[in-house]
Amino acid sequence: MIIRTANLNLYYHKFQALQNVNVNIQRNIITGIIGSSGCGKSTLLRVFNRMNDLIEGVGITGSVLIDGEDIYSPMHDLIQLRKRVGMVFQRPNAFPLSIFDNIAYGPRVWSISDKKTLSEIVERSLSAVDLFADLQDKLDSPALGLSAEKQQRLCIARLLAVEPEILLMDEPCSALDPIATGKIEELMIELKKKYTIIIVTHNMQQAARIADEVGFMLLGELVEFGTAKMIFTNPRDRRTFDYISGRFG
Ligand SMILES: Nc1ncnc2c1ncn2[C@@H]1O[C@H](COP(=O)(O)OP(=O)(O)OP(=O)(O)O)[C@@H](O)[C@H]1O
Ligand SMILES: [Mg+2]
Repeated sequence: MIIRTANLNLYYHKFQALQNVNVNIQRNIITGIIGSSGCGKSTLLRVFNRMNDLIEGVGITGSVLIDGEDIYSPMHDLIQLRKRVGMVFQRPNAFPLSIFDNIAYGPRVWSISDKKTLSEIVERSLSAVDLFADLQDKLDSPALGLSAEKQQRLCIARLLAVEPEILLMDEPCSALDPIATGKIEELMIELKKKYTIIIVTHNMQQAARIADEVGFMLLGELVEFGTAKMIFTNPRDRRTFDYISGRFG
């Protein structure tokens, strides 16, 4: 297990967005979080790298352990946490810089300036998302000129450049067409060999295709968590059954 929450509650001012969430997330698998709009999926994902800290009025109780360390302890190194737990968003957020400088951005923040080292990191990171062969002669071109799918791959490569352990993905394919989506899904299956992936998705078919374990959320509660097979074929909770069989959503 890599992440464990215990009695986790999260409030936006007085509104309680997460209700007593207890979850264990395993290393080197894909965990999918599903549930209807507003049920707290993105909020839960943001808990894992403390992105909610940036939102005014957020209060948290309970604990969140990564590798046994309480990431909300005042002693915890936030900069290190964000390096270790990277996040990919709905819309690719490539920087208005060259392809090379997008990937080198994180390493430079970590004071790597040697050109040869940076070139190696760029090659390794782009290779990991299967973009290097394609882009090696275009590293100085603007990243924003790439297709949406390639920009999303580039954003994943940008995270890999700082050697994270956990990748959080918040509906990473929702801006992509089905073919591009399929390619990103294949990439995720490849990446789980080295990384722990947590993906939020509206798309149940996507969760069924790629997730090993799945959590179903409803109104801030993690109603059910288990193997994808169990959640999609034999859920224990009536509310999960109703959701996966399309009774609401
Ligand atoms: N910054 C915020 N301030 C106040 N309330 C918020 C904030 N962000 C989210 N909420 C509320 O918290 C609840 C959970 O939101 P969240 O964005 O986590 O849901 P979600 O499952 O990701 O939804 P979606 O599928 O639409 O992305 C919603 O009721 C939402 O309105
Ligand atoms: Mg969301």
